[in-house]
Amino acid sequence: MFPRETYVARRDALMSKFDGGLLLFLGNNDSPMNYLDNPYHFRQDSTFLYYFGLDQADLAAIVDVDAGTSTIFGDELSIDYIVWMGDLPTIASRAERVGVEDTRPRGALAEILGRAVAAGRAVHFLPPYRAETKLQLLELLEIAPEEAATEASTQLISAVVSQRNYKSDEEVAEIEKAVATSVAMHEAGIRMARPGMKEMEISAEAERIALAAGGSVAFPVIATKNGQTLHNHFHGNTLSDGDLFLLDTGAQTPMGYAGDLTSTFPVSPTYSERQKTIYEIMLSSYDAAVSALAPGVPNRDVHFAACRTIFEGMKSLGIMKGDTEEALAAGAHAMVMPHGIGHMMGMDVHDMENLGEQEVGYAGEEKSTQFGLKSLRLARPLEPGFVLTIEPGIYFIPQLMDVWQSEGRHEAFINYDELNKWRDFSGVRNEEDYLITAEGARRLGPHKPQSIQEIEALREG
Ligand code: GLY
Ligand code: MN
Repeated sequence: MFPRETYVARRDALMSKFDGGLLLFLGNNDSPMNYLDNPYHFRQDSTFLYYFGLDQADLAAIVDVDAGTSTIFGDELSIDYIVWMGDLPTIASRAERVGVEDTRPRGALAEILGRAVAAGRAVHFLPPYRAETKLQLLELLEIAPEEAATEASTQLISAVVSQRNYKSDEEVAEIEKAVATSVAMHEAGIRMARPGMKEMEISAEAERIALAAGGSVAFPVIATKNGQTLHNHFHGNTLSDGDLFLLDTGAQTPMGYAGDLTSTFPVSPTYSERQKTIYEIMLSSYDAAVSALAPGVPNRDVHFAACRTIFEGMKSLGIMKGDTEEALAAGAHAMVMPHGIGHMMGMDVHDMENLGEQEVGYAGEEKSTQFGLKSLRLARPLEPGFVLTIEPGIYFIPQLMDVWQSEGRHEAFINYDELNKWRDFSGVRNEEDYLITAEGARRLGPHKPQSIQEIEALREG
């Protein structure tokens, strides 16, 4: 937990953006895996953590802008709970650690909100992403679950995003801890992959390192020899000589800050010549994107810096053809790079995606619907304090090739005969995390081995 002053200052800054009303924050509940007493590992709502720091289930909070006060709602533990699950400090002493003096039983929440609504006061809340939270909004504010997202406060969304998008030094230090653990997860994966091993052995090792560091993985591990499937969560394949292995995994710290890295390495001791060719083009596109990072630069331009390098690389192999700028504008490169260059990262691996990419990554600006560009989560001009990922990839997706070829799509830019020669290649991606600074950008955490030489050296060890 950060010092109490951090939470007080965050709430004061939030309050200053409103003229009046109540700001309601519903913490998360335990979520059952298969029956009530067998829940998934608890994850607190990130915005609740940001303003109130308390990492336990069944809490809620109200910021009363008119009174200038904050209240935490929660019930003391029953003796049954203490016998089975252990004790915790009282709600009042937990709240005191985050500078909240007023605490009430959970049951008081309905009454306070009911009075506010009856008096015509605004009650601002964020869009819920869990069914339990939607049911609470129904019970507390009579908002139907299907209307909860549209009834959410755009003013509160903007206010929260305008704080959480700018990482403080203490947050950056937390993110760097997450990245350091994530680098260890990747080094272990790169070292251990061997023919005959199952993908799940590598995903298990990544998860072990994240847990042993006191946190957990920040998102389900992607550990696969089928890297052409962007978010492949199947880990049941056996590795063979000649396979490429794509590992996309990151840790979250006990305070909930994420790291997010991707490596692609050979299962054999070295990359094949074909693998080297594609991997080098992808790494050059990574370097092009990183070189473009600077305050004031739209991240859309960073995205296209990487896509341009990939398209030129594909042209050099005869897979793509034609005028590069026309091809990029038409979206032909998305055949091999169908996702965005990166996303904001913080307490959520895709930071605040629950509040809407439009607000977080586009500052309200319209988002493209073009295949590929529609998956760019962050396009707005970069500003000091933003933390984002850079993660270009090159993928040969047989099903996508077949669909586009059958439609004759982008025939002016894609040489399908050449492209089809790569249909069994799989995919490559490299990802690291960056802070935008006043001068440019700084990579967060330790260096992750990623050149061909660095990775092959680890494969020998
Ligand atoms: N690391 C998974 C993602 O960025 O979507
Ligand atoms: Mn990512």
